[in-house]
Amino acid sequence: MQLEGKTAIVTGGASGFGEGIARAFASAGAQVMVADIDGDGAKTIARDIGGTAFEVDVSNGASVQALADQALKTFDQLDILVNNAGITHLPQALEDVTEEDFDRVLAVNAKSVYLTARSLVPHFKERQTGAILNVASTAGVSPRPRLNWYNASKGWMITATKAMAVELAPHGVRVNAINPVAGETPLLKSFMGVDTPETRAKFLSTIPLGRFSTPQDMGAAATFLCSDAAAMITGVAMEVDGGRCI
Ligand SMILES: NC(=O)c1ccc[n+]([C@@H]2O[C@H](COP(=O)([O-])OP(=O)(O)OC[C@H]3O[C@@H](n4cnc5c(N)ncnc54)[C@H](O)[C@@H]3O)[C@@H](O)[C@H]2O)c1
Repeated sequence: MQLEGKTAIVTGGASGFGEGIARAFASAGAQVMVADIDGDGAKTIARDIGGTAFEVDVSNGASVQALADQALKTFDQLDILVNNAGITHLPQALEDVTEEDFDRVLAVNAKSVYLTARSLVPHFKERQTGAILNVASTAGVSPRPRLNWYNASKGWMITATKAMAVELAPHGVRVNAINPVAGETPLLKSFMGVDTPETRAKFLSTIPLGRFSTPQDMGAAATFLCSDAAAMITGVAMEVDGGRCI
């Protein structure tokens, strides 16, 4: 029960890695708020893990403030914030990505980290404790072609993690990231473009451990980094990637 007595928000918690993190946190003893733009999906997972649900658009400042207000009302205090919600544009030449898709990817993947920080860092500072985890990607370290602006959004997230870690350390707040490799979630098809045995084999050939990552893999890494066992760890962007970035 590594997270016994702790409270957490997991954005994008209705599906994929976020769901895996929410489930792992609950199993480790945390009270979890599953926050997702898919309100019904969030409710389903929350019901399953004995947590609470909140419908939020992480790219919208007013919506994120409402999430923060509700979390503090529900829990009184917050220990853990996981910025996991993320999207991609489809694989294509970098100059062909529409301005609308570019803006949406940056708003959901990058601006959201600013918005949740704006709403919740004052609370963490007041308590002089807190753990923030950003779900970035191996894409931010070792980018694949044709996912250019998604890759760049994850690179932004990794730099934001380090910058936040160094600024918030004097306030007792730790900030880390995990970099998942391609994983078995609904988003995988969008990365591959087409889900065929050939594209799967191409992606798998770059992962030394020979399999896609899973929501359980992310749940385990996130639980460790957000627990007191990681009390001396801040500013890392930890690959959870079966060796892909070696
Ligand atoms: N699946 C992979 O291969 C992979 C690899 C590396 C990194 N990641 C990252 O992991 C994170 C989770 O991805 P996933 O694969 O679990 O995807 P997913 O599509 O299964 O889940 C993403 C969740 O985020 C929610 N969401 C989307 N936009 C939102 C918004 N504006 N506000 C609130 N919620 C929103 C969706 O409703 C969904 O429940 C993302 O940040 C993604 O970039 C995924």
